[in-house]
Amino acid sequence: MKQRILVTGGTGYIGSHTVVELQAAGYPVVIVDNLANSNTGVLDGIEAISGIRPDFVEVDCTDMEAMRKLFNDFPDIKGIINFAADKAVGESVKKPIKYYRNNLNTLMNLLDLMQEHEVKGVVFSSSCTVYGQPDENPVTEGTPIKKATSPYGNTKQICEEIITDVVNSGARFNAILLRYFNPIGAHPSALIGELPNGVPNCLVPFMTQTAIGAREILNVFGNDYNTRDGYCIRDFIDVVDLAKAHVTAVERMLEDKIDSQIEIFNLGTGNGVSVMELIDTFECATGVKVPYRIAPRRSGDVEQVWSDPSKANDILGWKATTPLADTLRNAWNWQLKLRENGIM
Ligand code: UD1
Repeated sequence: MKQRILVTGGTGYIGSHTVVELQAAGYPVVIVDNLANSNTGVLDGIEAISGIRPDFVEVDCTDMEAMRKLFNDFPDIKGIINFAADKAVGESVKKPIKYYRNNLNTLMNLLDLMQEHEVKGVVFSSSCTVYGQPDENPVTEGTPIKKATSPYGNTKQICEEIITDVVNSGARFNAILLRYFNPIGAHPSALIGELPNGVPNCLVPFMTQTAIGAREILNVFGNDYNTRDGYCIRDFIDVVDLAKAHVTAVERMLEDKIDSQIEIFNLGTGNGVSVMELIDTFECATGVKVPYRIAPRRSGDVEQVWSDPSKANDILGWKATTPLADTLRNAWNWQLKLRENGIM
């Protein structure tokens, strides 16, 4: 029997896909989530894919007493993956305290509790947002961190610093910081996927909702960037590929295979794809047209950023392998499933 993993935010988008992969690899999981941006139907999806219903505790990770009870109830937790966080860049500008309170307190509670309960390690969900607009692409883990352009981005930087400071203070746990590029897509079964609350901020859910007719038109923010076709460039990574990297990271951490007490990995494909190339690929892959119009630039957008994932490829032995067309087809099938279920 493998060791138990606590997945915070485990009913969320990346969390739920990761729980599926952890269970497939034999890890017993307990999910903690306050359902602020998800629902318990996700547990049904996970169970339908895995044949296993993970333990689930509905608690807000900022509630220290409730979290302490959780650790007492599950004394076999040996590793943590911390997804629980607010993540909307625009909202964070309007409600910074919400972001600092939730994202920082969640992490600090976990760091205290993992020391009290001798948990071996934590995998932290970080983001390419820490690089801001890099001077050069692709970015490696050594690319300088830029001043954050939003409170959301700042919480990711501060959380990375908090973990580093706690480890440097002599704490005896391992930490792996995973910097995600742009996660997209859904499980190929269409049983779990991204379920945005309200109007999506992110490109792919907005695009699939427009393609199905739930939204009138997709605004493409800016066509006058200094890039090959004038559109912003991102590194879109399949959510199942991304989820699999967490299993490798957990294994490495629990089995003390790490090279240093804190390790950092970029998780991306290594390919920069423009917003228009993504729309074209979607239309070719699904045969569905996306109504769109060119709109002004969105403030705060980075012009172009993509990863050099060679550290994760070489050291974790992990590689993103799903072709973009397959990922976008999965996103579309998930959108069709939401429609079938009367959700969107
Ligand atoms: C940002 C953050 C990322 C974070 C994510 C969470 C940065 C650099 N990246 O990603 O770390 O995890 O938010 O939400 O801060 N677009 C349109 N029309 C739309 C929506 C998006 O044209 O309706 C364009 C954007 O202008 C951008 C690209 O699509 O060029 C990707 O946007 P989005 O999906 O929102 O992700 P990021 O802003 O890259």
